[in-house]
Amino acid sequence: MGDIIVENLSKDYVLKTGFIKQLRGKAETVSAVNDVSLVINEGEVLGLVGESGCGKTTLGKMLVKIESASSGTIMIGDKNIVNIRRKELFDFRKDVQMIFQDPYDSLDPKMTVYDIVAEPLRYLKLAKNSEDMIEKIYEMLRLVELSPPEQYVNRYPHRLSGGQRQRVAIARALIVNPKFVVADEPVSMLDVSIRAGILNLLQKLNRENGISILLITHDLATARFLSHRIAVMYLGKIVELISSNKLMEMAVHPYTKLLLSSAPDLFADTSNRIEIKGEAASATAPPKGCRFSPRCNYAIASCFEKEPELTEIEKDHFVACNRVFERE
Ligand SMILES: Nc1ncnc2c1ncn2[C@@H]1O[C@H](COP(=O)(O)OP(=O)(O)OP(=O)(O)O)[C@@H](O)[C@H]1O
Ligand SMILES: [Mg+2]
Repeated sequence: MGDIIVENLSKDYVLKTGFIKQLRGKAETVSAVNDVSLVINEGEVLGLVGESGCGKTTLGKMLVKIESASSGTIMIGDKNIVNIRRKELFDFRKDVQMIFQDPYDSLDPKMTVYDIVAEPLRYLKLAKNSEDMIEKIYEMLRLVELSPPEQYVNRYPHRLSGGQRQRVAIARALIVNPKFVVADEPVSMLDVSIRAGILNLLQKLNRENGISILLITHDLATARFLSHRIAVMYLGKIVELISSNKLMEMAVHPYTKLLLSSAPDLFADTSNRIEIKGEAASATAPPKGCRFSPRCNYAIASCFEKEPELTEIEKDHFVACNRVFERE
């Protein structure tokens, strides 16, 4: 399928506001994703981390074409998928799938597990016949540890635990044998014991089948386990991009360091924890200049004016901080 090259991608949501405000052109917008450029290499697991509301899901949904982009391009091969047509979208769905963050919302309560997992096979016409369909579905359910499958196929989502639902969502995404998967918090609802199994499954699919994965997670330990590189997002922007095995020692963005210091990790260096001031700013009124400046202990006057660019400070290590070269 090739690399996925994202350039200047933005998403603004227009909030429903009063009629008068809209007439005056004052409808409030949320800048959920702002001018994001990054590459997901073929066969790579890219971790996407950042706190709640920073735009991770919105970015992921744009990559799988469930959400439209406000501006920017997403190139896969020589196609800009931001504006592909219906016929191409059909083929695109065979290659690109999403494991949804919230299986309560994304699974139709009126459908059985069997029909939920069968739907993409039927829609994309990927089963040769009904035996082939059954075989594929049973095999997939076993793979996500919903086993024996006979016990699950006739159940409705409300008769499953949160973790089982999450595994149905995973089965549904993987059944079409995609080449690229956006996995949005794929193990957040699972017990630690099952978590490892699913993470190992994703790792195996990546290593053996070469599936590219965008792994969205709150959890740095999960991100580091599975990802080759990690992108850190803050208020709609990528603030740091670094290889996973350098994250602990080499990360420099004050926000990345904040995340690292608050993550319970046995190996974390706690001697230089940074203090955080203020609350996460709102995406409806993002701060001027560097979006992180109101919370940053290193911010100087110019940080409140000038927006930093994501810059390569050493090979394969990108940072968006105005003071990256001055601060020691
Ligand atoms: N359909 C929508 N309409 C309006 N605003 C939205 C919509 N979807 C998301 N937003 C807003 O866009 C911003 C980014 O949301 P998003 O769901 O992408 O964040 P997230 O990083 O996935 O958060 P979480 O970790 O909680 O899942 C938030 O401010 C959110 O309120
Ligand atoms: Mg989300």
